[in-house]
Amino acid sequence: MGVTGSIAAYKAADLVSALVQRGAEVRVIMTKSAREMVGVATFRALSGHEVGTELFGNVEFDIAHVSMAQFAEAMVVAPATANVIGKMVAGIADDLLTTNLLAVECPVVVAPAMNKRMWANATVQANVATLKERGVIVVAPGEGFLACGEVGAGRLADKEALLAAIRFALRHGELAGRANPLAGKKVVITAGPTREHLDPVRFLSNPSSGAMGYELAMEAAARGAVVTLVHGPSELSAPACVEEVAVTTAAEMAEAVFAKVAEADVFIGAAAVADYSPAETQAEKAHKKNEPVEIALEPTVDIIAEVRRRRPGMIVVGFAAETQDVEFSARGKMARKGLDMIVANKVGGGEGFGPGQTTVTILVGRDRAMTVGPAYKDEVASAIIDAVEGLVAGRE
Ligand SMILES: Cc1cc2nc3c(=O)[nH]c(=O)nc-3n(C[C@H](O)[C@H](O)[C@H](O)COP(=O)(O)O)c2cc1C
Repeated sequence: MGVTGSIAAYKAADLVSALVQRGAEVRVIMTKSAREMVGVATFRALSGHEVGTELFGNVEFDIAHVSMAQFAEAMVVAPATANVIGKMVAGIADDLLTTNLLAVECPVVVAPAMNKRMWANATVQANVATLKERGVIVVAPGEGFLACGEVGAGRLADKEALLAAIRFALRHGELAGRANPLAGKKVVITAGPTREHLDPVRFLSNPSSGAMGYELAMEAAARGAVVTLVHGPSELSAPACVEEVAVTTAAEMAEAVFAKVAEADVFIGAAAVADYSPAETQAEKAHKKNEPVEIALEPTVDIIAEVRRRRPGMIVVGFAAETQDVEFSARGKMARKGLDMIVANKVGGGEGFGPGQTTVTILVGRDRAMTVGPAYKDEVASAIIDAVEGLVAGRE
């Protein structure tokens, strides 16, 4: 991880800590300007290793100028100054960080952070575009309050977005050189819950975190697919290369999906879409009455069935979360909706929703079934995308 002389350098400490907590081995290189902003001791303590600062006379590594490049499975520059971005584009190697950046063969993530006018500068924008063309994963800065007192684009992206980009980079690196049947294929994935509003402050929803759909988006993108993630309200961040469409209601999700699948090769419906929505949404907050109330509900559009109807030849993958008779119910759903594949899992009793481990059964066609787990959702996503690749390869 390279830390450069942006006022956001202190946030890099939190990122190093988060990476270490997730089991990563982190080595930090700080530029001279970064060391004006934050102390070396912070990064030494958080990473548990000496921090690289000098091109000449660094004690921990033999050939300091390229040693970190050989060690790394992913290289991250966060925050990245306008200066270091310019140096990367020009191929300048005048300190330990920029020398290593020229030597790395692993995926590189760059997270710019600067004043909004610096960020809007034509040279900076052209440089960022060049880095992207060269395959660097750029995590765009967010909008908000900047240290210079102005408000606008330029803030270092938040930690979750950076972690998502780093996980993507690592996975992308792992898969490098492998045949990827999904490369260039357009994949539309849904994730998360929907919210069906009763009034402006109340809604019907479910505890879906979106984790499964986000993991699938990450995995498909890491294998070279062009991914659109249509998601309901979720705390999660998708990697920068995934196109995100944020929606709230089932009707909005349906509209977004129908627009996107017109051109797609694969649709994976992993969202927990509401089956019913209130017949009426009150314009003002409803007041409490001391008597039972009845709420009339109407069925929402069956997104996956409608996708199948509109695109008969496309690969369509569904999910079936059930509390009982999981496989039997899933097979029924797969047949009824004409799906190519369905992923069945048991939910309830703390299982299925959120970040923990899960067990799924992947059903393909009439008689192929494979159980995966208990495993974390990234491993489950990888197994599901393997099966999707099998379907894609089978069509070609
Ligand atoms: C207080 C202060 C804050 C700065 N913040 C940023 C910043 O957020 N982004 C940026 O690109 N440059 C920022 N700079 C300018 C860089 O520190 C300067 O361009 C420096 O040469 C960068 O060196 P480096 O890229 O080797 O770390 C700041 C400078 C100062 C004095």
